[in-house]
Amino acid sequence: MSVYLTNINRPRIVRIRGVREENPTVKTFVFQDKHCSEAKPGQFVMVWIPGVDEVPMSLSSINSDGISSITVAEVGEATQVLHQRKIGDILGIRGPYGNSFALASGQVMIVGGGTGLTPLVPLVDSLLKLPAKISFLIGAKTRDELFFLEKIKKAVSKVNVTTEDGSYGLKGLVTDLAEKILEKEEFDMIYACGPEKMMLKMFLLAEQYHMSFQASLERYIRCGIGICGSCCIGEYRICKDGPVFSGRQLRKVKNEFGLFKREADGSKVSL
Ligand SMILES: Cc1cc2nc3c(=O)[nH]c(=O)nc-3n(C[C@H](O)[C@H](O)[C@H](O)COP(=O)(O)OP(=O)(O)OC[C@H]3O[C@@H](n4cnc5c(N)ncnc54)[C@H](O)[C@@H]3O)c2cc1C
Ligand code: FES
Repeated sequence: MSVYLTNINRPRIVRIRGVREENPTVKTFVFQDKHCSEAKPGQFVMVWIPGVDEVPMSLSSINSDGISSITVAEVGEATQVLHQRKIGDILGIRGPYGNSFALASGQVMIVGGGTGLTPLVPLVDSLLKLPAKISFLIGAKTRDELFFLEKIKKAVSKVNVTTEDGSYGLKGLVTDLAEKILEKEEFDMIYACGPEKMMLKMFLLAEQYHMSFQASLERYIRCGIGICGSCCIGEYRICKDGPVFSGRQLRKVKNEFGLFKREADGSKVSL
């Protein structure tokens, strides 16, 4: 049977079982779905908000008992309407789609910022089973933007937080802290997810220190299954070849990665 007819490509109607306010602009929505419970860290789903839009969201928790979640920042029309949804309301889910983080044991650095933290939490759960020794760096503009901090601190003993205004943790950019750590310590893998400029800086640091690297990228996603081409970055489609890319792959798209992306109408937008 063609892959396009398999169950994961049919929207499944799920009922919201829980809503958690993570910070003033970010909420987690919990639901039950068999396919999502079999997803791997880094994969995303297409979330249909009836009457509004269908948007890509990483899975922020993946549990074998069937309970999964997405964690959503309110940024525009679809996410605003989603933020109004309550327990018992319905959503449509397609997927999970895309590849996943390749798991690395040993010394691991994870760098996350904003909603880039969402796929990194299931990644931590999987890495700890290997086992891996994790140094987790979280960056935010200000204290109010932080979320998942307690959850990450519970799982990982080495957690460092930076805020640009110094309202929590160290003042400054998370990439500056990462650079200081990389001057002294070696890592078997560096994972990054967050603003693309941050991921570009982490990629350049990984190149400089000859360390393995993976980052989860975002582009405009329409079909989610590799057909429409709206999510291209160089030779890759984010939805099918990604969203996780290795340092080796990112070298091939360095004329685009961290520099610009394309919006829904195909226009180029500087990052
Ligand atoms: C693989 C992937 C995983 C993502 N995971 C998360 C997540 O875990 N949590 C989270 O809050 N956000 C995540 N996003 C981003 C999320 O999809 C957008 O914030 C959301 O689509 C915005 O929709 P909107 O209508 O509210 O905003 P709009 O006003 O329509 O757009 C606001 C911004 O979101 C981007 N956007 C809008 N529609 C899409 C789309 N179909 N595909 C990609 N970007 C879009 C726009 O380019 C724009 O920059 C992810 C994106 C991708 C590609
Ligand atoms: S979203 Fe259509 S090819 Fe990726």
